[in-house]
Amino acid sequence: MIEEILPPGVRSSEAFDDLAPAPLFPEEAALMAGRRPRRQAQFATARACARRSLAELGLPPAPLLPGAGGAPRWPAGVVGSITHCDGYRAAVVARSAEVAALGIDAEPAEPLPRGVLGLVASDSERAALERLAAGSPELCWDRLLFSAKEAVYKAWYPSVERWLGFADADVRFAPSGTFTARLHPSEPPPDAPTHFEGRWLVRNGLLLTVVATTTAPAGHDDAPLLSAAGGE
Ligand SMILES: CC(C)(COP(=O)(O)OP(=O)(O)OC[C@H]1O[C@@H](n2cnc3c(N)ncnc32)[C@H](O)[C@@H]1OP(=O)(O)O)[C@@H](O)C(=O)NCCC(=O)NCCS
Repeated sequence: MIEEILPPGVRSSEAFDDLAPAPLFPEEAALMAGRRPRRQAQFATARACARRSLAELGLPPAPLLPGAGGAPRWPAGVVGSITHCDGYRAAVVARSAEVAALGIDAEPAEPLPRGVLGLVASDSERAALERLAAGSPELCWDRLLFSAKEAVYKAWYPSVERWLGFADADVRFAPSGTFTARLHPSEPPPDAPTHFEGRWLVRNGLLLTVVATTTAPAGHDDAPLLSAAGGE
């Protein structure tokens, strides 16, 4: 499902349950020792997805441990992202020569709990969501905004290793399935991304968002599915 909204060069694998216990490397198993069975299962299934995706890039199985801020430590030359929610786990990877930043998020396609939208959306974002809801009331635009911001964070963090708050990004959706995120943290690190572009999909009770910054080779005329973004 997620491959429908990924740009070229990004490999993905997804799972809709944790039926088979997925094998872990000893250092991964040590990390999960004592954790709740649900967390162990989602962690293991997501790693199985990640290793399948890495295999598509021609890379051998390797432990995937958390690094700074909880972001997964991918093999050298690789960017990637992981998500899990009830009924869904996925991992995406790409060569960093082709994709500079990658973030994915999955959520149940249900309205946010009461009070949460006020924590994640500005007044102007809320007004934009209301306009979208007038045209497509069947979609959970509030949850979509939350998910897009989570995907933005996962794409942002690995390159700068700095917190980005919900108020530090302004996210705007197009009903056709794309969105843009303008980033305006106070005191941004040098060379930090200033905007991202993303895509979204709602299907089978799930809502998926993807943020990717592709690096088109010089002289390449074909526009990438998600265009390059970065310092302006
Ligand atoms: C880290 C965070 C984005 C994870 O999102 P989530 O919806 O709670 O959980 P998901 O299942 O979708 O994603 C979890 C995965 O995110 C990845 N992740 C965790 N921290 C990360 C980070 N700092 N950078 C990139 N990826 C990260 C991990 O792979 C994790 O899975 P794993 O522990 O099994 O490896 C979220 O918990 C969080 O802290 N959000 C606050 C920051 C934010 O969203 N700001 C908005 C900016 S506009």
